Amino acid sequence: MQRCPEPELMNAPDQVIAYAEADFSAGDHSVVESLLELISNSCITLPSASLILDLGCGPGNVSELLASCFPSSDVIGIDGASSMISMANQRLFAKRIFIQNLQYQHVDLSHCCLDDLQQIRDASVIVSNSFLHHLHNPQTLWDSVKQLAAPNAFMLHRDLRRPSKEQEVDALCDRYVSEAPSVLQRDFRASLMAAFTVVEVCDQLELAGLSQFMVKEIGDRYLEISGRW
Ligand SMILES: C[S@@+](CC[C@H](N)C(=O)[O-])C[C@H]1O[C@@H](n2cnc3c(N)ncnc32)[C@H](O)[C@@H]1O
Repeated sequence: MQRCPEPELMNAPDQVIAYAEADFSAGDHSVVESLLELISNSCITLPSASLILDLGCGPGNVSELLASCFPSSDVIGIDGASSMISMANQRLFAKRIFIQNLQYQHVDLSHCCLDDLQQIRDASVIVSNSFLHHLHNPQTLWDSVKQLAAPNAFMLHRDLRRPSKEQEVDALCDRYVSEAPSVLQRDFRASLMAAFTVVEVCDQLELAGLSQFMVKEIGDRYLEISGRW
């Protein structure tokens, strides 16, 4: 099945509200657990005040978890959609007593220059969840990684993977979003069609000179890219 890209930025009010209200906690925790495992397998402790970036952070669900799990690090969530950043900031304002090491920045990674990235360089950890498939040119993610990561930075990128047939898309939609609000049903289908396969991601990494990262399938619908830069 051919890839069918979807719009990059999620600025539509119905999308922002649906994402902010949805319970993605199982997937979000699983991303952070994979990151913790990657770091613990390296036997390295992150120094305090390390910078952790969450690219394409949306309403901030994963950024908030990262900030709680790494209280002595500074977490920055980046998103190109101003409405998502407003929603993330609203949520953060409500939790500001508990979360003090998190902030958000509005940056469109497909259309930014080095000056826009000054404050977010030299990151010790770069994470993204459900971001890669939004990019029309996937090299945007790998170029961002190369510009923003400190040497030896940890990478953990989780995304959907594209099924080989439309019948598999139907089956996944039936399995996972048949009861969800219509915006999420529509977006889940569009995201599966826009996602990359493991082979395509391996090709992207080779082109970017990042073949040291590992790409693996997770369950029936995800892929995960991890390693150190
Ligand atoms: C499916 S959401 C994922 C949100 C969040 N990471 C999560 O796990 O729920 C993808 C996010 O990537 C953002 N995005 C897409 N293209 C982007 C770009 N070029 N620069 C920055 N953010 C982008 C969208 O605006 C959207 O908020």
